[in-house]
Amino acid sequence: MRVVIEVQELRKAYGSRVAVDGVSFEVYEGEIFGMVGPNGAGKTTTIECIEGLRQPDSGRIRVLGMDPGRQGRALRARIGIQLQEGALSHRLRVEEALWLFTAFYPRPLDPETLLQRLGLAEHRRKAFDQLSGGLKQRLFIALALIGNPEILFLDELTTGLDPHARRAMWDLVQEIRAEGRTVFLTTHYMEEAERLCDRVAIIDRGRLVALDTPENLIRSLGAEQRVIFTRDTAFDPSFLTDLPGVSRVEAIGERVVIYGRGDSLVGRVVEAMAARGMALRDMRVERPTLEDVYLALTGRPMETPGQEILPASNSGRSR
Ligand SMILES: Nc1ncnc2c1ncn2[C@@H]1O[C@H](COP(=O)(O)OP(=O)(O)OP(=O)(O)O)[C@@H](O)[C@H]1O
Ligand SMILES: [Mg+2]
Repeated sequence: MRVVIEVQELRKAYGSRVAVDGVSFEVYEGEIFGMVGPNGAGKTTTIECIEGLRQPDSGRIRVLGMDPGRQGRALRARIGIQLQEGALSHRLRVEEALWLFTAFYPRPLDPETLLQRLGLAEHRRKAFDQLSGGLKQRLFIALALIGNPEILFLDELTTGLDPHARRAMWDLVQEIRAEGRTVFLTTHYMEEAERLCDRVAIIDRGRLVALDTPENLIRSLGAEQRVIFTRDTAFDPSFLTDLPGVSRVEAIGERVVIYGRGDSLVGRVVEAMAARGMALRDMRVERPTLEDVYLALTGRPMETPGQEILPASNSGRSR
């Protein structure tokens, strides 16, 4: 696999606040690479150093073989950037923005095609400040794509979007990857990282705490699945304890929870119940998620958006 982004021992502090504290990783061509972590973890700082928009204090970065600090201009002709706090001139219309941005790139895509593809064609005459949050996001992605980039950087792709718009964004990012582009995104939604990314880097207080595919990260936890269903209180589910893979069975009131491991767990439970002529009412299966991985690695749940972390002096290198 070709490495398109290489980061070694990246460090960046703002005064006494260490934002990125020795982060190293590689991104492969054609993957959707996600960096997840709570507010203030250092995601934007990292992505901006990679884009050449911020100068790291130390460390080595190569993007498409170039040093973003020294070859920023040449690099930015080959990458697309969607900024976290993007804004455009209020009265600039959607189509004008796209045409304007074509001038910045040597091999731009056709604005008309992008308008169609991103569902912006019917909004082409709208001014920037007339757009909803979701449409603004789509416009920023269109602007990040207009230069026909090899790598697309998306900082907080779906923050502020409703669930429907979020899913539409996920589809769009997958389409962009299918065109052979590499996508580097940041998010503080674990679910988004789990559904969308080929590999996920979990960053916490400026440090990389894990990096792997979502499946491997979840599997590495070794956490149990739970099969949950509703019973008639007369029904005694304790025989399920004998099934291979089941570690324990909990029955409280009408609710039965079976804890266990293995791919065949659910099938075994269903079969064993069917063999006794019992239906599994309201059955659902809960699996561990990336959220559980984060909790296991850091000992804390992900902070809710808007919360600040402690200053790095309390939480940085000494940990
Ligand atoms: N320009 C700046 N000046 C001073 N401190 C900054 C600056 N930019 C970021 N920081 C601090 O550096 C740390 C990392 O910030 P960064 O924006 O990289 O985090 P983030 O993971 O992108 O957070 P969010 O999820 O809120 O976007 C935070 O403590 C933040 O307050
Ligand atoms: Mg950020």
